[in-house]
Amino acid sequence: MNILELAKKYDQYTRDMRREFHMYPELSMKEVRTAKRIKEELTKLGIPFESIGETGVVATIKGKNEGKTIALRADIDALEVNEASNAPYKSKNEGIMHACGHDAHGAMLLGAAHVLNDIKDDLKGTVKLMFQPGEEVAQGAKALIQGGALEGVDEVFGMHVMGNIPSGKIAIGAGPRMASCDMFRIKVKGVGGHGSMPNLGIDALVAAAAIVMNLQTIVSRETSPMESVVVSVGKLVAGTRFNVIADEAVMEGTTRCFSYEIRDQLPSMMERIVKSTAASYRAEAEFEYINLTAPTINNEESTERARKAIEKIMSEDAVMEMAKMPGSEDFSEYLEKVPGTFVIVGTANKEKDTCYSNHHPMFDIDEDMLVYGVALHAQYAYDYLMNE
Ligand code: NI
Repeated sequence: MNILELAKKYDQYTRDMRREFHMYPELSMKEVRTAKRIKEELTKLGIPFESIGETGVVATIKGKNEGKTIALRADIDALEVNEASNAPYKSKNEGIMHACGHDAHGAMLLGAAHVLNDIKDDLKGTVKLMFQPGEEVAQGAKALIQGGALEGVDEVFGMHVMGNIPSGKIAIGAGPRMASCDMFRIKVKGVGGHGSMPNLGIDALVAAAAIVMNLQTIVSRETSPMESVVVSVGKLVAGTRFNVIADEAVMEGTTRCFSYEIRDQLPSMMERIVKSTAASYRAEAEFEYINLTAPTINNEESTERARKAIEKIMSEDAVMEMAKMPGSEDFSEYLEKVPGTFVIVGTANKEKDTCYSNHHPMFDIDEDMLVYGVALHAQYAYDYLMNE
């Protein structure tokens, strides 16, 4: 089975779909047109699908014989970025842009739908195609899981195009590769008063400043030096006037880490510091911790499968080690429940001016990599189903 040759049949189709998605980018959880187009394309192929929420689409390709189930995932949302390029396929939706390449993800999965549909009589098992909304707001994966997308799924696979990895390379790596991303909110309550007589009040601002400093000891004194952890307070609002004691302070921040265990421990570590620090200044504090995305931890066997699939469709040289990244990805939600792996498709090509980082207003991809993305989805699914 030469899957790359099959993918080449749909190369022009994939390029066209990518450009169409690029022209009509839609914000997270509002991918109405995109989802409608995906359903139209699946309908043309006679591939059954179900809608999850307003903009999630999960299609199913059943092989002739019974077997395992693998889910391939593509996220489909865009961002609030003003596209700066003058490409003929530039965004037609003012202020919204496919600056993270999710247009390519949706198109590649549609390309893979064609390939897998062509070879379904040879397949042993089932392929689910998950077109996922809302990755940028970390809601889409959770919504699909709640909607039952992972039911009966044995393995997951996903990919992301990236503007700082050379075109022609695909980066893979087992273990923790991308960080978690969670959010916290702290409200410190004191008692207001005159700035000349702080003793008569309880200064929420001073307590908040101490909390900001004490939170830094989680990384420096409490978690292992072998682990990467970030606790950042990004916002602190307190006070109304130079000579008034602040009666309230509100902080917001984010945490990042690469381990499920540390992620579980962070809220209680933080709450202890927040509440006891506030108390030591006679203030009170409320602490709220909001889980957004888990760390992306790739399964070892799955990552080896990806390596072999890349070698089959490209070459050994195409495989690159995936560095640990502080960014996050809600594909991690699937990986927390089902083994699988997430790979990075390099799309940086100087001659084509596609070396801008993701989320940059000039972000674009080397479209020559689309066919490999299509082939990799299909090859990975094929190899998994035929060998399990
Ligand atoms: Ni992205």
